[in-house]
Amino acid sequence: MKKLDGKIAIVTGSAMGIGKGIATVLAKHGAHVILYDLNDKVFETAQAIEAAGGRASAYQLDITDREAVSRTTDDVAAKYGAVHILVNNAGVIKLAQFTEMSDDVRDFHFRVNINGVWNVTRAVLPYMKENKYGKIVNMSSVTGYMVADPGEVAYATSKSAIIGFTRSLAAEVAEHGITVNAICPGYIHTPMAEQIGSESNPEDPGSVIQGIANAIPLKRLGKPEEVGELAAFLASDESSYITGTQVVIDGGSTLPETASVGV
Ligand SMILES: NC(=O)c1ccc[n+]([C@@H]2O[C@H](COP(=O)([O-])OP(=O)(O)OC[C@H]3O[C@@H](n4cnc5c(N)ncnc54)[C@H](O)[C@@H]3O)[C@@H](O)[C@H]2O)c1
Repeated sequence: MKKLDGKIAIVTGSAMGIGKGIATVLAKHGAHVILYDLNDKVFETAQAIEAAGGRASAYQLDITDREAVSRTTDDVAAKYGAVHILVNNAGVIKLAQFTEMSDDVRDFHFRVNINGVWNVTRAVLPYMKENKYGKIVNMSSVTGYMVADPGEVAYATSKSAIIGFTRSLAAEVAEHGITVNAICPGYIHTPMAEQIGSESNPEDPGSVIQGIANAIPLKRLGKPEEVGELAAFLASDESSYITGTQVVIDGGSTLPETASVGV
């Protein structure tokens, strides 16, 4: 018996990156994963999970489209009978200095990273309440909650919001047998990390990634599957008494007390 056998798990932003890693690991632990993503690579990812012996279904949709999210989630619940797990993973970043940032760039973060999480959670909750069972895992970040770099004001604001969202929702839905927790990753090697490398130094993005790795006590970026194992724990009954909190997974990147003074 695997720890997620028989569970129906929606994972947003799961065509690539951390979401793909999470979907792959949840499927390995027995869940039937339902992939939501804007990008049509979502179908390829579902096929790869099935080819490895897992169960996966793909839906191409934009989580900022409230109607589409609601319709698709109703279809999923009707087809598979329940939604036990929701991993709100989809997120975006676009580096911009605060004084030069357009409202469009700011709102892009808020629409996807906050409203998108809101839309999918609202669509899923009635089914979890009906079953008196649910595990919600929200992707926050160490950025905003613990650390930040220049250019990240909109992103940091949106990711901090997810901590407040997690706590308050956890308090509200506990009586329905639903837990809500957040994951705060440091740098994980994904297309988003590559994008940050290109935006920071278009001439040599590889050097940005290498520089980040050098500054992390474990000397490397994390792997999407490592975040997947944490998500699987928070999505399973192994974490039955954990709710309204956040877990950092960062290779120790937020640890050094003295790195900035070169000790
Ligand atoms: N990579 C990191 O170092 C890191 C660190 C901390 C937190 N995070 C968070 O983890 C999550 C995943 O990050 P990643 O690095 O895998 O990103 P990524 O850009 O590599 O992948 C994100 C996925 O989300 C999808 N997506 C984006 N907008 C969407 C929308 N509106 N509707 C549906 N799907 C959408 C994309 O198509 C893509 O498949 C994000 O919430 C990010 O903020 C990442």
